[in-house]
Amino acid sequence: MHSFEELQEIFNKEIDCYSPAVEPENLQKPVIYTLGMGGKRLRPVLLLMATEAFGGKYQNAMPAAMAVEIFHNSTLIHDDIMDEAELRRNQTTVHQQWDINTAILSGDLMIIKAYEQLGFINSNKITEVLNVFNRITSEVCEGQQYDLDFETNNEVSLSDYKKMIRLKTSVLLAGALQIGAIIGGAHVEQAKKIYAFGENLGLAFQLQDDYLDAFGNTKTFGKKIGGDISANKKTFLLLKALELAKGAYHDELTSLIGNNNISENEKISDVLAIYEKLGIKALAEDEIKNHFNKAIDYLEEVDIDEQQKDYLYDLSKKLMDRQS
Ligand code: IPE
Ligand code: IPE
Ligand code: MG
Ligand code: MG
Ligand code: MG
Repeated sequence: MHSFEELQEIFNKEIDCYSPAVEPENLQKPVIYTLGMGGKRLRPVLLLMATEAFGGKYQNAMPAAMAVEIFHNSTLIHDDIMDEAELRRNQTTVHQQWDINTAILSGDLMIIKAYEQLGFINSNKITEVLNVFNRITSEVCEGQQYDLDFETNNEVSLSDYKKMIRLKTSVLLAGALQIGAIIGGAHVEQAKKIYAFGENLGLAFQLQDDYLDAFGNTKTFGKKIGGDISANKKTFLLLKALELAKGAYHDELTSLIGNNNISENEKISDVLAIYEKLGIKALAEDEIKNHFNKAIDYLEEVDIDEQQKDYLYDLSKKLMDRQS
């Protein structure tokens, strides 16, 4: 049994040796560049932890862990095009470093390479794994499209938002745990419980991501602060502010959203000032905590060793205090 940090080190060694055998260079380099930027490796390590939690060997789950991380990185490349982001993990995004077409294609290649990894799974559970993987990867696309659609929709509710982040973010975290559990030999019911833990952890995680996008620090977060505000993203912060703002604040906020005649920095600082006046920061912290607590309730119900639960609990707790 290994802790998150131990499995993170093991997984990093594995992925550091990975390079897709393709040419030309302009297709291969962005993949190596992206995977080499690091990241927390959250999803593959959760997958390996779930395998161990149900008595399996992490080595048997390594191809699935690679598949999940390669897929995750493909979504980041495409997400940065969609969000017009310049910075990722403190480095220039792929479409800025190369160009948009190259970024589309290298992201596509990574999806294919993720599936290639699944073919290396040596387990009679491969069909089950494939079914989960197909569902979650398709759901990520659904969530990403909702995210885009919401940029220009001013009728988005908090429950629409929850649905969107569940699809774009939670299902991949939860599915990674479920796949790990399946490979580890978990019963279907147990795999579903660990999925529910991941689903709520994922909601807390995306809420936290939105929070850090507004209140974090570029150096540690590795992305540009205020990116969601400039892109008119319907985050929990904005939706809550729209719900609470009255009179002049409400007018100011609605006129700031979608306003292209104002400088980006001015827009960001004006919206942040409204968040400050409305106490949005503390409300977001509460919302994150609610989902975290719900996640832990589900974790309690999973029938695994206390030690393994502690590892998952410690990791979840650490994620809630993250700056990156
Ligand atoms: C970023 O995910 C995308 C979201 C779902 C918020 P991570 O925060 O896990 O990104 P890395 O892999 O650690 O950089
Ligand atoms: C990320 O949402 C969801 C996926 C990449 C699927 P964001 O757009 O908030 O992620 P970051 O903040 O750019 O990492
Ligand atoms: Mg983004
Ligand atoms: Mg996005
Ligand atoms: Mg974000």
